[in-house]
Amino acid sequence: MAFSLAQTLFFLLLLLPISAVAEANGRITVGSSLSTTVNFLWVSPSGDFAFGFRQLNGSDFFLLSIWYNKIPDRTVVWHANGDKPAPRGSKVNLTAVHGLVLSNPQGDELWISQILTGVAAYGAMNDTGNFVVEDSNFNNVWESFQNSTDTMLPTQIMERGGVLSSRQSETNFSKGKFQLRFIKGGNDQGIQQGNVVLNTINLPTVEPNGPYYEIDSTVGDCNTSSAGKQLVFNESGYIYILQENDERITIAQGSLSTGNLYFRVTLNFDGIFTLYSHPKTSTGNESWTPIWSIPDNICEDIPVDSMTGVCGYNSVCKINPQDKRPTCECSTGYSLLDPNDPYGSCKPDFMQGCKEDEN
Ligand SMILES: *[C@@H]1O[C@H](CO)[C@@H](O)[C@H](O)[C@H]1NC(C)=O
Ligand SMILES: *[C@@H]1O[C@H](CO)[C@@H](O)[C@H](O)[C@H]1NC(C)=O
Ligand SMILES: *[C@@H]1O[C@H](CO)[C@@H](O)[C@H](O)[C@H]1NC(C)=O
Ligand SMILES: *[C@@H]1O[C@H](CO)[C@@H](O)[C@H](O)[C@H]1NC(C)=O
Ligand SMILES: *[C@@H]1O[C@H](CO)[C@@H](O)[C@H](O)[C@H]1NC(C)=O
Ligand SMILES: *[C@@H]1O[C@H](CO)[C@@H](O)[C@H](O)[C@H]1NC(C)=O
Ligand SMILES: *[C@@H]1O[C@H](CO)[C@@H](O)[C@H](O)[C@H]1NC(C)=O
Ligand SMILES: *[C@@H]1O[C@H](CO)[C@@H](O)[C@H](O)[C@H]1NC(C)=O
Repeated sequence: MAFSLAQTLFFLLLLLPISAVAEANGRITVGSSLSTTVNFLWVSPSGDFAFGFRQLNGSDFFLLSIWYNKIPDRTVVWHANGDKPAPRGSKVNLTAVHGLVLSNPQGDELWISQILTGVAAYGAMNDTGNFVVEDSNFNNVWESFQNSTDTMLPTQIMERGGVLSSRQSETNFSKGKFQLRFIKGGNDQGIQQGNVVLNTINLPTVEPNGPYYEIDSTVGDCNTSSAGKQLVFNESGYIYILQENDERITIAQGSLSTGNLYFRVTLNFDGIFTLYSHPKTSTGNESWTPIWSIPDNICEDIPVDSMTGVCGYNSVCKINPQDKRPTCECSTGYSLLDPNDPYGSCKPDFMQGCKEDEN
């Protein structure tokens, strides 16, 4: 019995995309690449996560990123080049020496994954949302979980010294002014090693200001053997500090029947650190539900006159009691300096007398 042409074509179409991805047991081999001009992605075996380029808000620039690929939001959970958007025609290559290399059409490097030891042989988009680069013995030489941006995913563990950085806004992935840090070395502004803090930075410097929220990992007993050693986000969506003595300080509770929920915890662009869940099977209109967040009132926790307040100068910070997210509103008689930045500073509607005369 011969195959008809239609059947043959059907099988070719079926096999082509699969064989292009499924080299080396679902791994991508060194020499593979993705381009902004070809609509092709590296997808995890379950299809839950994808690695590739995302077009930035209708512009001609792209963000190399990882996202939830089965939900309509296609929520970005990791990104490489927030400060250097990639123009159309950019490519990411999996190379032996540097692992992932993102370059623009002129061949200039926009971002590389820093492999400290070893030689890359494979890449894999794991079902956990972790993109891993492996050597020829399948040892990890780089992973996106060790290079977090603003989000952690279940099964992800942060060691002391780890940092999350907010973005500028929901749609602008440049580095923002809020950080979560898991403190390493106790000398840091007198903050104890193993504590978790939220703080602002004075962009463009990276110098942290005093924390606006702190989680004490020793719960006041000053016993270094109980200091935090890992910040864990487990499969059930629980976040806890694992102490040196292997005890846990639970920070946030997910759900113990989690088979049908996705979780993520994100340091939002407005400084609120929020745990979300989302149904895995989607009928189309569900969105992420906040189930826990810190701090309770960021407007009160950051000094109003601080240069790094949530809102700019002459702007009033208000908390939405539902999700504890802040909004900013210009004081009466003032309006936004940059109408596209609702969190920015406000200028007086009428200039002061003498200046008005000058003009
Ligand atoms: C994104 O695009 C929408 C629609 O084109 C526009 O209204 C919005 O201001 C853009 N956002 C940014 C941050 O550029
Ligand atoms: C990336 O891969 C493309 C296509 O395979 C190739 O043309 C290009 O030279 C590679 N660039 C780098 C930096 O390796
Ligand atoms: C990849 O995901 C599986 C579960 O899907 C997990 O058991 C494994 O540890 C992950 N590997 C890495 C390197 O993250
Ligand atoms: C992530 O990687 C970039 C470039 O390789 C590096 O500059 C940055 O410090 C890394 N961030 C973390 C949190 O490891
Ligand atoms: C994102 O924000 C940064 C800092 O404010 C700004 O320089 C950059 O132009 C913005 N990017 C986009 C695409 O709007
Ligand atoms: C510190 O913690 C360890 C382990 O829990 C315990 O054995 C030890 O007695 C504690 N020391 C003090 C001074 O509390
Ligand atoms: C996650 O952590 C919580 C709190 O420690 C625990 O009750 C739960 O069993 C953990 N889930 C998994 C899958 O380990
Ligand atoms: C989602 O859609 C269903 C059916 O169309 C509707 O009943 C439900 O109210 C919607 N939910 C939300 C949050 O919009």
